[in-house]
This record gives sequence, C-alpha cells and structure tokens, in this order.
Amino acid sequence: MIDFKVIGEPIILKNARKICPNDIEKCMEAGRYGALRKAITEMKPEEVIEEIKRSQLRGRGGAGFPTGLKFELAAKEKSDKKYVVVNGEEGEPGTFKDRIIMEDSPHLLIEGTILAGYAIGADEGIICVRCDYIKAIERLEKAIADAYDRGLLGKNIFGTDFSFDITIERGAGAYVCGEETALLEMIEGKRGEPRKKPPFPPQKGLYGKPTVVNNVETLANLPFIISEGADRFLEFGIEGSHGTKLFSLSGDIEWKGLIEIPFGATIKEIIELAGGVKGGKKLKAVILGGVSGTLVRYDEVDISVDYHSLGVIEAGPGCGTIIVLDETRDIVDVTENIMEFFRTESCGKCRPCSLGTVSLCNLIHRIKEGNGTEEDLKKIEKISIGMRKASFCGLGQTAPNILYQSIQKFRDEWLAHVRGGKNG
Ligand SMILES: Cc1cc2nc3c(=O)[nH]c(=O)nc-3n(C[C@H](O)[C@H](O)[C@H](O)COP(=O)(O)O)c2cc1C
Ligand code: SF4
Repeated sequence: MIDFKVIGEPIILKNARKICPNDIEKCMEAGRYGALRKAITEMKPEEVIEEIKRSQLRGRGGAGFPTGLKFELAAKEKSDKKYVVVNGEEGEPGTFKDRIIMEDSPHLLIEGTILAGYAIGADEGIICVRCDYIKAIERLEKAIADAYDRGLLGKNIFGTDFSFDITIERGAGAYVCGEETALLEMIEGKRGEPRKKPPFPPQKGLYGKPTVVNNVETLANLPFIISEGADRFLEFGIEGSHGTKLFSLSGDIEWKGLIEIPFGATIKEIIELAGGVKGGKKLKAVILGGVSGTLVRYDEVDISVDYHSLGVIEAGPGCGTIIVLDETRDIVDVTENIMEFFRTESCGKCRPCSLGTVSLCNLIHRIKEGNGTEEDLKKIEKISIGMRKASFCGLGQTAPNILYQSIQKFRDEWLAHVRGGKNG
C-alpha cells in the first residue's frame, strides 16, 4: 500500500484512511455531499462557477489551466447535452496521487464530479480510470452504487430538477490516452489518438458535445471550495498558487509515498520532509512534474514549487511528480530509460514524434556503446527542438524535455561518455 503524509491542514486527504472509503453513511456524517446539497439547493450554477473562479483553482493534471474559466467556457455553450469527463488515466511514470484519491476517497471525487456537472449544465459524468487500477475501480463502483441508492446520483437530486449520472470507463493504459482529446476518442470507442485543437473540449468534446475534462485531484478540490468558500481556499498556499498540492515522491529518496502540502514549499524542503536522499548520498537532480517535465539540478532545488517561481525556470509543478536521482545515477542511463518509454508510447500519428523518439533513442544507444561523437549531441539538441515545435500533441512536444535539459545541465557527463568512447 502506498503511504502518505499530510503537512499542515489537508484539503484532499482529510479523511483518507480515517473513514472507510465505502461507508457512505460515515462519509456523509463527516460532511461528504454537504457541498453538493449547498450548491444545488442554494446556489445557481453561475454562482458555483464564480466561487471556483474566485478560488483561483488551477488544473492539477499538468497544464495548470484555470478550472473556473474552463467551466465557464463549457457553461456558455448552448447544447442539449454536456459531459464531465474525469481524467484518471494517470499514465505519468512515478505518479500515483489520483490513485490514492480514487481508492481512499471515492465519494470526494464523485461529489466533485457532480458539482462540475451542475456548474456547466451537464447531466452525465464519465470517470476514466487507468485499467490496472483495480482497487480504485472496485471502490468507485461501490461508491457510485451507494450514491444512487441514497438519491445523490440519478433523477432529481435533493428533490431539485437537477439529475446527474456517472459511469466508469476503464482506460486503455496508454500514456497518450491521458491527453484530453485522445481520452475522448478512447471513450467513443476509437483508437486513442489526439484530436486537432481548436475546437477545444469545452466547445466540442465527447460525441461533439461541450465537455469539461478534468483531472481527479482538480475535481477533488471542489467540495472544499463550495462548502468552505473561495476565501478559505485562498488562505492555503501563496500568491498565484492557492490550495494544497499532492506530490508523488519516488526514486532515490528515504521515504517514498504521497505528500499533501500547501503551495509554497521548496523542492528541497519536500525532499527533507521525506527523510532526504536515500542512504545519505548526495542529490544529483530531481525529475519534476514527470518524465515530460523538468530536470532540476542539485543546485536549483531551493525553489518553491508554485506556478510563478517555477515559471522563471520555464517549468511548472505539472502533475506533482518528484523523482529523486542520487549522485550515482548516470544521466545517460536515466535519459535512455525515459526516451525508450516515449518511443514505446508514441502513438504514431505524426512523424516528428514517431520518428524523432526513435532517432533520439538510437543516438543515445550509440553514445552509450562508445560510438558517439560530439556531433551526436548537437543532433540530439536539433531533433529535440524540432519535436517541440512540430509534434502534433503534448506527448511529442515534451518527450525530449529531460534529455535536452540533461545536455544543458550535465554537459560534462555527456562529453565524458563521448570522449571516453571509440571516437573520443
Ligand atoms: C501525453 C499527455 C498525457 C496526459 N496524461 C494525463 C493524465 O494521465 N491525467 C491528467 O489528468 N491529465 C493528463 N494530461 C493533461 C490532459 O490533457 C488535460 O490537460 C487534463 O486532464 C485537464 O485537467 P485539469 O485542467 O484538471 O488539469 C496529459 C496530457 C498529455 C499531452
Ligand atoms: S506527438 Fe506523438 S503521441 Fe502525439 S500525435 Fe504525434 S505521434 Fe502521437
């Protein structure tokens, strides 16, 4: 079982593992579905959106898009049908935050999903769960059935004219299917490939209807914002980055698990809270925000994990993944591993990504085998820049991030591989 820690007052993990996740009575006694009752009996949908906008909640799936604005875009669309799609694909290596929410607090996610539906005028929600998250699927199924039994889902919720249904979709298990439009294709029973944007899902999403696609952690914030109010939410975190953030910690670190902490802590502090680098070794670098994120060098970790501070180094908290690399890690091995992952996960729809990932892997192999040249490093940089500019979706655009940055930040190590090889 994945362990977790809470630093300060939690928003998301408040009742996780304190209350049986499938005991709806106990969950309701602890306040679950109170925000839903308040919203649909006391607030208009536009007031719910206004409260979410005021909270400055930003999406926790990676891109950090303002949630209230996304809801507003979908709410404005005139349509007989709208959807809420919950992105529980969680394909990013080293990421397990959404899994803990779905396993340990399924009613929190269900309440957040219904609130999103009420806000945008949808009557249907689909929770897409990565297919190998068996326990999460079982607990969500039971929680959804219990919510129907208590009239919290289905027709005329709390005696109002608002009705909402939720179903579960098992994800395809491919990394690209976490991309919002590939996810929609997958739900429609098609091959999970990204769509051209615009139109964006709030305008034309599932089956061509207005749809909000939101990350599990994002929606899990909504019950707090509605029940406690945006002002309370704004008390958490720092200017421009409010609320708490879940961080999945793994790699060469003493304690591996999930931490919920208000925005504002530095990467260094988070690592220290987890007992530091494993075995007392020195830190080499941190992979922040997943393997498509940022390589933060040992001398850069005194940076707050918030949208503004990280923006300065062209990074972001992403999905909140922190993979620690100790001093013994070979940067070429690390990047080879990452690029092999992307080569396998490239969906093949566009050439910059499908061919680029193969070329990058081949160049890394050549360098590792001792056949590389300094010219190969330049080729890696050129291909990486080309992929960023020309790939069709975020997968190809971000796949070379860590590799490219590793050459900027650990050039000596790459040069040692090249110069120590047969062509050096
Ligand atoms: C290749 C790729 C994979 C992605 N995987 C996920 C994922 O597993 N979960 C997720 O929530 N968002 C993922 N995203 C981001 C989604 O496209 C989308 O931005 C997100 O679900 C929106 O939710 P939010 O606004 O609540 O963050 C991925 C994006 C890309 C490009
Ligand atoms: S960038 Fe990669 S994953 Fe995205 S569409 Fe192109 S081939 Fe597919």
